[in-house]
Amino acid sequence: MKYLLFQPEELEELMQFLEANLDENYNPQVFLKIQSQWPDGFAIAWRGGKMVGVGCGALLPGDKLRVLVLVLAPGVQGHGHGRKLLEMLVAAGHKRGCSRVTLEARVDSEAVDFYRHLGFSSVDLLPCYYQDGGDAVVMERPI
Ligand SMILES: CC(C)(COP(=O)(O)OP(=O)(O)OC[C@H]1O[C@@H](n2cnc3c(N)ncnc32)[C@H](O)[C@@H]1OP(=O)(O)O)[C@@H](O)C(=O)NCCC(=O)NCCS
Repeated sequence: MKYLLFQPEELEELMQFLEANLDENYNPQVFLKIQSQWPDGFAIAWRGGKMVGVGCGALLPGDKLRVLVLVLAPGVQGHGHGRKLLEMLVAAGHKRGCSRVTLEARVDSEAVDFYRHLGFSSVDLLPCYYQDGGDAVVMERPI
């Protein structure tokens, strides 16, 4: 597995990957903005020339890193790549002075258990956060 920073010319492949692996619909321009605001906080996992994982975040006021997307293709889940992408984001945030990391995950999803396993605690609930009306739990951890 290769982990590289996202490049704007990979946008089309990124959008195809997200459409195949997440329920939400995203505007491609958002990802160009995320990349331009903080290029070091946007990592892609590649296997055999194919995009198989994405982790990106944003720097918030108050020394916080917000994870915006963390997703692995089903075929590569459960082999430490999600942890690795998250660690890359956290290390990049630490370099920029972040002391906490925050994110949202779908209530009752396996992602919540994954983040709990990695030291995150639930701090808030966001009703109807997702486009299908699903609720999100806000989770945080010190860096
Ligand atoms: C959630 C997700 C990012 C995790 O990535 P992954 O590569 O499958 O997870 P990893 O293999 O890196 O797991 C890291 C650690 O978490 C643990 N873990 C993984 N999934 C877990 C779960 N559902 N419950 C508890 N622990 C879990 C692993 O056992 C591993 O523990 P260890 O390092 O102590 O041995 C990935 O499965 C995924 O993309 N799922 C679908 C999309 C999604 O839900 N994204 C998150 C939305 S915010």
